[in-house]
Amino acid sequence: MDNDDTAIYPVLPAGFGRFFRDISMRVTELSDDDRLWVKERTELLFGGDFVVSRSEVHDPHKLPGFIATEGRERVGLITYHLVDDVCEIVTIDALCQFMGVGTMLLEKVESVARAAGCTKLWTITTNDRLDAQRFFQKRGFVISEVRLGAMTKIRLLKPNVPKVGDYGIPVRDELEFEKPLLPLE
Ligand SMILES: CC(C)(COP(=O)(O)OP(=O)(O)OC[C@H]1O[C@@H](n2cnc3c(N)ncnc32)[C@H](O)[C@@H]1OP(=O)(O)O)[C@@H](O)C(=O)NCCC(=O)NCCS
Repeated sequence: MDNDDTAIYPVLPAGFGRFFRDISMRVTELSDDDRLWVKERTELLFGGDFVVSRSEVHDPHKLPGFIATEGRERVGLITYHLVDDVCEIVTIDALCQFMGVGTMLLEKVESVARAAGCTKLWTITTNDRLDAQRFFQKRGFVISEVRLGAMTKIRLLKPNVPKVGDYGIPVRDELEFEKPLLPLE
């Protein structure tokens, strides 16, 4: 990343590329034009066009959410579900990782949730998704529940969920993360 900076802007400090990316990336509300793409991404990432959270089935392509774009390219998406004063992040998906896409999308949903009076954000991921586990924990989430072997039950509904996931790790368990939304200083 910083090597690129040096190549293009030899006298500018390291990290300039990140600053440039921050100002060139846009986050906009998910529109009807995006819904088919959201459905395709859900199929690709979650082994079906729906997700099961606790015992509820969600169609991410029908939920509210945000899309991140870089120029004309879609580079990420987040979908959420608000119930009373709690906001579930149903899916989050960065097409190019470690470039700030996930953070921008998460911050957007957090601000929507706060504006709606929510006191908590929560989400579910699986044991193999180490990048997501790192991502959420470094952004104020804690592990609130672990369901060992939960993916066996999920596969009855979603037979296409892969047996082996990120980093070659067997996909077995669900982890729930939550973040209390404390009043901002
Ligand atoms: C989880 C996920 C959404 C995170 O998205 P992301 O875009 O990679 O996240 P970010 O880039 O904002 O942050 C990740 C790291 O990259 C770093 N980063 C951000 N911009 C950067 C840049 N320009 N250069 C180098 N590093 C950068 C961040 O500091 C962060 O590091 P940290 O966690 O140590 O603080 C992404 O890994 C993903 O899509 N995973 C697959 C789907 C998934 O597991 N979803 C969760 C279950 S629903």
